[in-house]
Amino acid sequence: MFHSLTGALAACLLPNIVSAIGLHEAAVAAGLEFFGSATDNGELTDLPYLAQLSNTSDFGQITPGNSQKWDSTEPSQGTFSFTRGDVIADLAEDNGQLLRCHTLVWHQQLPSWVTSGSWTSATLTAALQNHITNVVTHYKGRCIHWDVVNEALNEDGTYRTNIFYTTIGESYIPIAFAAAAAADPDVKLYYNDYNLEYGGAKAAAARAIVQLIQNAGVKVDGVGFQAHFGVGTVPSRSSLTSVLKSFTALGVEVAYTEADVRIQLPTSATTLAQQATDFRNLVGSCVDTDGCVGFTIWDWTDKYSWVPSTFPGYGAPLPWDENFVKKPAYDGLLAGLGVTVPSPTTTTTATVTSTTSTTTSTSTGAPRWGQCGGNGWTGPTVCSSPWTCTYVNDWYSQCL
Ligand code: G3I
Repeated sequence: MFHSLTGALAACLLPNIVSAIGLHEAAVAAGLEFFGSATDNGELTDLPYLAQLSNTSDFGQITPGNSQKWDSTEPSQGTFSFTRGDVIADLAEDNGQLLRCHTLVWHQQLPSWVTSGSWTSATLTAALQNHITNVVTHYKGRCIHWDVVNEALNEDGTYRTNIFYTTIGESYIPIAFAAAAAADPDVKLYYNDYNLEYGGAKAAAARAIVQLIQNAGVKVDGVGFQAHFGVGTVPSRSSLTSVLKSFTALGVEVAYTEADVRIQLPTSATTLAQQATDFRNLVGSCVDTDGCVGFTIWDWTDKYSWVPSTFPGYGAPLPWDENFVKKPAYDGLLAGLGVTVPSPTTTTTATVTSTTSTTTSTSTGAPRWGQCGGNGWTGPTVCSSPWTCTYVNDWYSQCL
């Protein structure tokens, strides 16, 4: 009978099973559209990884970490390749997850024909428009958001001197948004950057970008806060909320798009507890902001984080460890989403405190790739037709 209960109801009735409600379910109950994770193609052959990525109790949305970037989608001029990006888009569709699409214009992961080309403003504008038109058209109807322009700013709020800015000037930004809007009028178009969360000069410059696009008469729907942090450097929930609201006041929505909280290794109980507090404040500020629509972590397990290769000596930035065991950060996120999380010494379980729960029934069977069993699993134990619930390990059975 357990599989026919909603997560919230099961949580109330099954007092010895911890956290019967997942992150996405809790996010929706708190009024957000989604809780999600980034992923990447190489990770999908890891079946236990794939099973949890496909667990829609936790993840209602996924983002391709690399496979929609310019070097993947247009490696040589006019030659487009969508194979890797399509794998992620198809996975999202099969799982019933939303897809955030990332990213069209960025100074990194550009092919050399872009960075080393000999451009005039007119020829680079045409190449930029052609890239955006082709990529957005290919994914038309499949993405909820496109990160149209990514990281256009320096920390002091001046424009980053990438090839687009130096060749075209700041107008490359509204030009990019206009091309995306023309190719898919329905997808929401985002400006996406890091370190906006502190407010200050960079956030002010990002608000100016929103206004630059708006004043050009071009559509801009949202601003993505990447939320890449070091542990203990996350602002308070109220100050994060103030910054988010300074953007929604301009008539755009906001989302946390790439959250992680890195720790100097080895971790300790203290740093893991601080990380839980940091995640709680981050997601809590989204709950506190009308117009904050979702929260995405930059992959879900420390096993596949980008952090250790970029910040030597640092790692462990995500809510699950390298062995896919939940860390205190997981409960921190649930708490920020309004779920009463038991302390480690009690046996009572998580319950939803929000009154707006829209947690979906699990009585119809899990979708393809979804979890259908495993120790502690309280979700569906049957699969939707024609998939079969298949044992993967003691912690995961999956609809295959
Ligand atoms: O695909 C090649 C592989 O063929 C090669 O053998 C291997 C050797 O290094 O490199 C592989 O490419 C790597 C790629 O990730 C795919 O794994 C690149 O070296 C590596 O630099 C690249 O890192 C990505 C990074 O963006 C690039 O700056 C990370 O995975 C990705 O998570 C990260 O994501 C960015 C967001 O897009 C924007 N915001 C910041 C965030 C973190 O840097």
